[in-house]
Amino acid sequence: MRSDGSRSFMVPALSKSYTSARYISSRRSRRFLSVQSCDIAAYVGNHFTSSSVQQMNKKAPSPPILCPPMELPPAASFVAVALATVLLLITILRRWKPKRRYNLPPGPRPWPVIGNLNLMGALPHRSVHALSKRYGPLMSLRFGSFPVVVGSSVDAARSILKTHDLAFIDRPRMASGRYTGYSYSDVLWAPYGAYWRQARRLWKTEILSARQLRSHEHVRDEEVRAMLRDLYENGPAAATAGRAVVLLDHLLMVNLNSISRMVLGKKYVVHGGAGAGSATTPEEFKWMIDEFFFLSGALNVGDMIPWLSWLDPQIKRIKRLGEMFDRFLEQVLDEHDERRRWEGEEFAAMDMVDLLLGLAEDPNLEIPIGRDGVKGFTLDLILGGTDTSSVTIEWAMSELLRNPDTLTKATEELDRVIGRERLVTEGDIPNLPYMEAIVKETMRLHPVTPLLAPRMSREDASMGSYDIPTGTLVFVNVWAIGRDPAVWGHDADEFRPERFVGSSLDVKGQDFELLPFGSGRRMCPGIGLGLKMVQVVLANLVHGFAWRLPDGMAKEELSMEEKFGLSMPRMVPLEAVPEPRLPGHLYAGP
Ligand code: HEM
Repeated sequence: MRSDGSRSFMVPALSKSYTSARYISSRRSRRFLSVQSCDIAAYVGNHFTSSSVQQMNKKAPSPPILCPPMELPPAASFVAVALATVLLLITILRRWKPKRRYNLPPGPRPWPVIGNLNLMGALPHRSVHALSKRYGPLMSLRFGSFPVVVGSSVDAARSILKTHDLAFIDRPRMASGRYTGYSYSDVLWAPYGAYWRQARRLWKTEILSARQLRSHEHVRDEEVRAMLRDLYENGPAAATAGRAVVLLDHLLMVNLNSISRMVLGKKYVVHGGAGAGSATTPEEFKWMIDEFFFLSGALNVGDMIPWLSWLDPQIKRIKRLGEMFDRFLEQVLDEHDERRRWEGEEFAAMDMVDLLLGLAEDPNLEIPIGRDGVKGFTLDLILGGTDTSSVTIEWAMSELLRNPDTLTKATEELDRVIGRERLVTEGDIPNLPYMEAIVKETMRLHPVTPLLAPRMSREDASMGSYDIPTGTLVFVNVWAIGRDPAVWGHDADEFRPERFVGSSLDVKGQDFELLPFGSGRRMCPGIGLGLKMVQVVLANLVHGFAWRLPDGMAKEELSMEEKFGLSMPRMVPLEAVPEPRLPGHLYAGP
């Protein structure tokens, strides 16, 4: 108790203001730092309960003065402390909500910091499949800072993608979306909201509408014929000599050339690169596509443990890749802008970039898409249209080479329906049910994105007796569902297209047994184009050539190892020998 009647307390160094006050007081008056009753309410309100204040009180020696003394009787200062304490308690009780205890699905116990990342092997869809056999079809994991849920059964997939579609419709904010998706302004990485909804509407009605796809059919047809010509140039002599081709090189070019002409108006990626008026070379662009699908699907430490992102070399790779894509896209957009300016009133949109640039200037658009939006959408179209289809066709050809009886049946169907005097067109596909069944069977065993693209929960959801909290990363293991014996029988691991002949099961997102394109509002918007490309390219490869494995390789020796990424290609590119089986003039190209 001070002689003037005010009460003072010794307070340890706790806050910046306190420290500076002590500094001032020690410099100016060499007094102990103390706080009088006038400071207590603020202090208590900020930091302490009454008991801690009392404890400090006990230790307090006779204090110096810091704030002007007040003439309060002892009883009044006790009332002030009590009032402040009551106020504090009321505030705390009002703000405090009991932490909800979630009943999470079962899963392995996570480690501090890394969570369960230590349990993920090089092929995470296989790692989570093995774990789900132990913990069940709805399983909890933790990847670094993120709670994770994986659905691995038809029921879990239906619940995630249909029943709770809106709860799990968001995407996580990963480095890939930041650096290659123009800060999440493309479609793939855009957060759920008005911008994404508008983008999906524009893709459906303008960019990938049925009318647009029809208007570009001749482009796809020409590029398929160019591919057959290039393979033919490998030559009958080469076939006799057993010379194999790396099929993926041809598949990437047919898909990239088709999508480039549809989206960009011409082939930007040509041999000779910049010197030939192109922004990049095919080799460089193929590397960029590979890098994108690997880095976007990888479980990057920097994404999962954000405070370690500065240490993660993969984040640096993503940044560099984003810059390379941007240089390419800037050249494309500049050329398109120039034609618009040059042609003035006469200008008519010729390709999807023209459409997008027109949309970017549309004042009626609910949310402007801007130049970044145009670049992000363009990149989605090119990447979505190139790798996914190529990877699927490569797996289909691998399965056909391992299953010669199926290849023979497919060839017989083509001879019967198409004959040997012409190539296959998109219009023929509905008349080739066995070829359609081969595509479905390939997508069942080798879905391009085995865990779909990652989703993120926007709100708490309950699935059965389990809770999925907001902010959980959600995966659906469509690879595991496609191989589940409870769904597909004892021969689930075998390639047997017959299971789809006469069956109504389809890949369009309604049948949760087979989800290569996902399902619900966030499912693949490129399904129409993707299916057309896979079906017509595969049918022409089988119709145009008799395929065999390189000399000396038995079908059992063909590796079927997978490589993980946002898409899942073969670990070892397929090499095979094409022997022409149609009249020579059909390989003349466009
Ligand atoms: C065989 C071909 C293809 C397959 C198997 C495939 C598969 C998928 C899958 C599984 C998803 C994730 C769906 C989900 O999260 O539930 C997806 C999303 C997407 N795909 Fe495809 N895709 C293919 C072709 C294409 C094509 C040709 C394009 C564009 C021209 C495209 C553009 C996209 C985009 C932009 C998304 C993100 C959609 C969103 O987040 O709203 N895809 N695709």
